[in-house]
Formats: sequence, structure tokens, C-alpha cells
Amino acid sequence: MTTSSAGHATRRDFLYVATGSVAAVGAAAAAWPLIYQMNPDASTIAAGAPIEVDLAPITDGQAIKVFWRGKPIYISNRTKKEVDDARNVQLSSLPDPQTDQQRTKDGHEKWLVVIGICTHLGCVPIAHEGSYNGFFCPCHGSVYDTSGRIRSGPAPTNLPVPPYEFVSDTKIKIG
Ligand code: FES
Repeated sequence: MTTSSAGHATRRDFLYVATGSVAAVGAAAAAWPLIYQMNPDASTIAAGAPIEVDLAPITDGQAIKVFWRGKPIYISNRTKKEVDDARNVQLSSLPDPQTDQQRTKDGHEKWLVVIGICTHLGCVPIAHEGSYNGFFCPCHGSVYDTSGRIRSGPAPTNLPVPPYEFVSDTKIKIG
């Protein structure tokens, strides 16, 4: 008798846990279409189709990650300080000299769009980390600035900027 009722309790507990997990997954899935609703289906994207990203939900100072052609793409809504930090740099001090202007779009300088793959050995750097508060690669310690330019560590080059364009003030098309 005791064994049987313990068995019931165990199954019931399992059901509660399972239901809770489904609810959590459902909530995450519900947030997904906010950014991806305009995009083609997954197989078309995987084949290399451009994706459109709505920038409106990305708040000042926030960076989000989307995927294009299977690659992580960071889209960063930079603060004025982050833009200033990226622009007030001696080019000659950079391992891979590029101005911030060359890496962003005219009239949309607050937006940084980069491929989030470390140019050393391909790890995914973390946004808003490292001594320049840009990106930090935890694999071997490469540090990128708020323009995604390599500043220290073993990575040889800046985070690449993917092909993209603004289709409106609040939407970009990558690819
Ligand atoms: S892969 Fe990023 S530092 Fe090595």
C-alpha cells in the first residue's frame, strides 16, 4: 500500500515537472516570432536567404544575437559612449586598423552588426565583456572593442561585418 501510494505521488510529481517544462518552452517560443516574424522558413534561411530583423525591440545599449546562414550575428544598439569609444581611437594602435565609420552605415552609426565568430579559432565571443566592453572570447582571451575590432589576444582580425542594409529606420536585411 505504502509503495503504491508513493508510486502515485512520484508519477504526479513527474507530471507537474513535465507540464512546467512545456510552459517554459512555450513562453520562450512565443517571444521568438517578435524578431523573426518577417523571415522565410528555416530551410530557406539555412539555404542562404537574406533575413530581415526588426530593430525596434532592441533597447539602447542592448545587443542581440540572430542567425544567418547558420552563423551567429550580433546586432548591437550602441550607446553614445560606446560609439564615442569606438571613434576616439588612434587607428595606428589597432592590430587590424579600420575606422568605426567603415564598419557601420552612414546615418545609423549607433548600430553595429558583426558576425559573432572569433577570428582566432571560431568560438562565439560574449557581448559587453572584456576591457573595452565590446566582445570577449572566453576560449583564449581575445578582446574586441565596441566596434568589434580586435584589441588584444590571439585573434588576428576584427569581427567581420556581414553584408546588410537598412530597409527602413528600424529594419535591416542581412544577406
Ligand atoms: S577562439 Fe577566440 S581567442 Fe581563440
